[in-house]
Amino acid sequence: MIITLKKTAQEQVIVNKLYEELFKSTIDIIVEDFRGSGYRIIKEYTRGASLGIKRAVLFDETKFFIKIVEKVARENQVYDNRFYRDNKIFLNKIEKYCFHPGVLVLPFYEGKCLDEFLFSSTTSLSNKIGKIQYILNTTLDLFWLQNIKRGNNNLIWAENYIKGRMDSLINDIDSIEIDDKTIPAADFLSMSVRYLSAGKKYDLPPIKKMVEDVIILFYNYRPQFTSCVTADFQPPNIITSDDGFKHIDLSNSEANGDIAIDIGKFFNFITRFYRVSFLRDGVKLGNALKPIFKVNQHNLSLEIDIAKGNNFKNVAPYIEERFALKAASLSGDFHLIDRITLYKFVVNLITIRRHLNYRGLQDLLFANLIDSYAEIYDKILNI
Ligand SMILES: Nc1ncnc2c1ncn2[C@@H]1O[C@H](COP(=O)(O)OP(=O)(O)OP(=O)(O)O)[C@@H](O)[C@H]1O
Ligand SMILES: [Mg+2]
Repeated sequence: MIITLKKTAQEQVIVNKLYEELFKSTIDIIVEDFRGSGYRIIKEYTRGASLGIKRAVLFDETKFFIKIVEKVARENQVYDNRFYRDNKIFLNKIEKYCFHPGVLVLPFYEGKCLDEFLFSSTTSLSNKIGKIQYILNTTLDLFWLQNIKRGNNNLIWAENYIKGRMDSLINDIDSIEIDDKTIPAADFLSMSVRYLSAGKKYDLPPIKKMVEDVIILFYNYRPQFTSCVTADFQPPNIITSDDGFKHIDLSNSEANGDIAIDIGKFFNFITRFYRVSFLRDGVKLGNALKPIFKVNQHNLSLEIDIAKGNNFKNVAPYIEERFALKAASLSGDFHLIDRITLYKFVVNLITIRRHLNYRGLQDLLFANLIDSYAEIYDKILNI
């Protein structure tokens, strides 16, 4: 599959220059505080889809993490919110160095990103599962169950958000080439999907219809309250160390959100999205998975076994179910379990646009989306 995008803006160069100026000013302020001891950039972070400055910088013997990217102003506000401040699962920003809304300065937290830990070949599966459970349980107690506000959570934002993402997908994609056929985006999204996965066969609706179905399903599973979320709750945004862990990357956080989005995003990552994430960041995976897309007449067919070679394939459903049940009973929200499944589809949908510039990942992104609809089919629609 080759996706051709409509022309994109080339404004990043100017923005980068501004970011460098802000970085220089930040350094000047910190250096002065450290009595002019100088500084050294010890690591430049290029992972992730956001462009901008993410640097670990050493001043005398103190390390800071400096972040100057598009959505930092919002992240700065989140760090001021009482549900995030002085909470041991987050870092406290260093107020006096965040002199500009576009500059976030955090203490540097020594550790490893959770995705690296979970997909390392030298750590045992039971260690990995223990870590997952510890992080989920601690986050539940100290964060997700805090700030529960009774009342209808109408999820209107979800509908608008999903529709907006779908529209931008249709608008931004010019055409899709599969085998020798060139298909306009709107036609591609309107083709029925036959999905073959690990010996199972699904006859699924067109992607456009899947999106409509999911929006309707959300209305059946509305929660009766809102709660705190990071809304980007995935292993690359969790740093683990021997004494604990910290959640970072709060630019999408919401004090009145839906817990299910965080849990869904987490499990979608460890069972599907990790491949996209690692390939995007140039980390080689032992076993490559190649989705096979074919088009015949007005149907699209996909063949792939997403779970193949995934260490978590047998345990993830149980960890998810057990944890979701616990969270559901503590919050009294028994639709939580189904919403988690729905959000996996949503996160796969909303991430597609962001990654379309990565040529080799396009097939996998659509395969993830279709596979997450198949999960909805198995768990919600087909019972
Ligand atoms: N305080 C910190 N201490 C140590 N490392 C950090 C810290 N904050 C971030 N990092 C490292 O930098 C990486 C990128 O940071 P972050 O997740 O905040 O940005 P991002 O994913 O690029 O941003 P966004 O998702 O907002 O586009 C993290 O994966 C982590 O490895
Ligand atoms: Mg991140």
